[in-house]
Amino acid sequence: MIKQAIIPLAGLGTRLLPLTSIFAKELLPINGRPGIEYILDECINAGIEEIIFIISSKKLMIKKYFYSDQFYKKIIKKKKDKRIIDEYKKILKYKKKIKFVYQNIPKGTGDAVLRTQKYIKNKYFLMLLPDDLIIKKNCSKAMIRIHQKYKSSVMASMTVKKNTVSRWGIYKIKKKLNKKNFYIEGVIEKPSIKQAPSNKAVIGRYILPKKIFSKIKSLKPMKGNEIHITDAIQLLIDNNEKFIAHNFEGKYLDCGTMDGYINSSKVIGKL
Ligand code: G1P
Repeated sequence: MIKQAIIPLAGLGTRLLPLTSIFAKELLPINGRPGIEYILDECINAGIEEIIFIISSKKLMIKKYFYSDQFYKKIIKKKKDKRIIDEYKKILKYKKKIKFVYQNIPKGTGDAVLRTQKYIKNKYFLMLLPDDLIIKKNCSKAMIRIHQKYKSSVMASMTVKKNTVSRWGIYKIKKKLNKKNFYIEGVIEKPSIKQAPSNKAVIGRYILPKKIFSKIKSLKPMKGNEIHITDAIQLLIDNNEKFIAHNFEGKYLDCGTMDGYINSSKVIGKL
């Protein structure tokens, strides 16, 4: 059963500067709601019971967003505004499910995952990267179903333009399971066009096995002096762990770049 999700939130958000110089990118509004709420809704609707946020001391405003009880209570006491009461109830619903762990030096997704080790209870857990919004279909829910069917690790995937491969983790197919699901043979983080084994990219949803923690520990920092989850996944594959790439059905919105972020509000606004 996948009941826990983890969300790395300690990144600096340099691709969204100047918006992120003093503000957490995950709280930036997308069509009037902080981006992180879309991610939380995806988790909760997929049956996740506990969500672990990996934040840093620079991103404490994320914790404050969910811990503003006094502020809400005072306002609600003064004016019984239905909209504010509903918003507060929503925040409380999220808060009940969230736990915080810290990664004060941004040393990559792999290192972020490692911070959650002592809290992970089951054999597998879900990870969502908050830059990647997937709308219209619940990608996590679909991946959990695939995991249950094949008893395998799963990653969300999408075909990308060949000239953009260096922006993504790129994987190589080992075997086609059906139209949307493939066993993968290997994955490489942000390859050059020359190095890339394909133009199939990993998107920020992963169902990972607990075993990944020991693999992360054996890694040294790689590209950009960071420990990448992609490299730990490759080590697991080398150890015969099965990984499925799942071509998701929803619409992908890249909120981690300025153009993508601006576009995401436009697209969601039209839904
Ligand atoms: C991360 C992963 C990369 C993946 C991408 C999806 O990169 O490291 O493998 O393809 O998310 O958005 P980042 O966006 O943090 O640079």
